[in-house]
Amino acid sequence: MTSGPDIAVVIGASGGLGGALAAALGADPRVGHVVGLSRRRPADWRDGARRTWLKADVLNEGSLAAAAERIAELGAPTRIVVATGVLHAPGIAPEKSLRAVDAATLMRLFEVNAVGPLLAARHLLPLMPRDGPSVFAALSARVGSLGDNHLGGWYGYRASKAALNMFLRTAAIEHQRSHPFAVCVALHPGTVATALSAPILGADLGARAFAPAVAAERLLRVMDGLTPADTGGFFAWDGARVPW
Ligand SMILES: NC(=O)c1ccc[n+]([C@@H]2O[C@H](COP(=O)([O-])OP(=O)(O)OC[C@H]3O[C@@H](n4cnc5c(N)ncnc54)[C@H](OP(=O)(O)O)[C@@H]3O)[C@@H](O)[C@H]2O)c1
Repeated sequence: MTSGPDIAVVIGASGGLGGALAAALGADPRVGHVVGLSRRRPADWRDGARRTWLKADVLNEGSLAAAAERIAELGAPTRIVVATGVLHAPGIAPEKSLRAVDAATLMRLFEVNAVGPLLAARHLLPLMPRDGPSVFAALSARVGSLGDNHLGGWYGYRASKAALNMFLRTAAIEHQRSHPFAVCVALHPGTVATALSAPILGADLGARAFAPAVAAERLLRVMDGLTPADTGGFFAWDGARVPW
């Protein structure tokens, strides 16, 4: 990455990880402006000279196109992180067995976890600079790794993240043709204490999970260390490659 002031975009800025990423980017002196996108305005978000919140739903292309126009007015973003995703929702919980598999739930998980980030890439990747370094990262999950799947279960979430990984790798190949200095990757944040993980971690939350601010700082460090040779890859919070 370059060291000049730049524009950073966080999609899913209302989430546990997205909020922490926006805060960490806002505290980085190299970042001139942080743009946060989400369906809900984060409770503690204050727009200012260096912070802008835009309402956007990753499943609504009109809202993504409108956000892209506003971002383009600020300049070319050099860091974009997609931090949207769902594991639990009303009527949705990770499946423990084939008996629990439900078509509507599978479709919803694919829609939010895989299609949404790809639509974000479709609208925002073209804004990134052609003549200098940039990183587009989407938060995936190690459980989306086929090679690392030794436990089974979680059919929909696992498969939606595996699909996301394929979407990102495919987009990375296309993006590199027009943006040779760019990086487009999937990142595994580790287990992080957010609303998404709370139903799984229960009372052990503090002991077993990273605080969102710690995870955000690690993810941004990984992003800073990536080079165009890494594009299309899948990396964990410690910088190690995750098997496909
Ligand atoms: N926490 C963990 O331990 C962990 C581990 C591995 C991977 N991850 C991944 O990290 C990412 C962030 O997770 P988190 O822990 O920060 O979760 P979170 O606190 O629940 O935040 C999820 C974000 O996703 C957005 N979102 C949810 N459904 C959406 C939809 N239908 N359309 C658009 N946006 C939607 C929410 O924004 P709005 O509802 O405001 O729009 C929110 O900003 C996810 O992709 C998750 O799979 C997390």
